[in-house]
Amino acid sequence: MHEDSYISATKKAMSKAYVPYSKYPVGVLIITDKGNTYSGCNVENASYPLGNCAEASAIASMVMGGERKIKTIYVMTKNDEGGIPCGGCRQRIREFSDEDTEIMMCSPDGVKTQLNLAELLPNSFGPEHL
Ligand code: THU
Repeated sequence: MHEDSYISATKKAMSKAYVPYSKYPVGVLIITDKGNTYSGCNVENASYPLGNCAEASAIASMVMGGERKIKTIYVMTKNDEGGIPCGGCRQRIREFSDEDTEIMMCSPDGVKTQLNLAELLPNSFGPEHL
């Protein structure tokens, strides 16, 4: 798969978002170290705090697929600056990443900002600290 296909797949994930409250759809595509892909979208709830971020849903799908390592993750929203992972999702991504895991923040046009995990969440806490 090439970058264009990853963008299309991320857009497709975003189109599935259930966002009646925020009207802020987010789509995520994970490419694992084995080259497989897993997607997710945000799923909100009338009891607002129970909503799930798109990253959480994509990570759950990856884990259900028996995989544990994110090589690249695309995060897309509809605005021009692209999808910016929230603080909680930076930690969720961190759990299954290396320092050189790439985070691609996208709008539907393509990648707007690319950072690796060390840049996205510097000096972070992770499994090896326990
Ligand atoms: N959201 C995500 O899905 N991922 C993020 O990293 C940022 C926020 C969702 C949560 C909520 O459904 C909507 O975006 C607005 O906050």
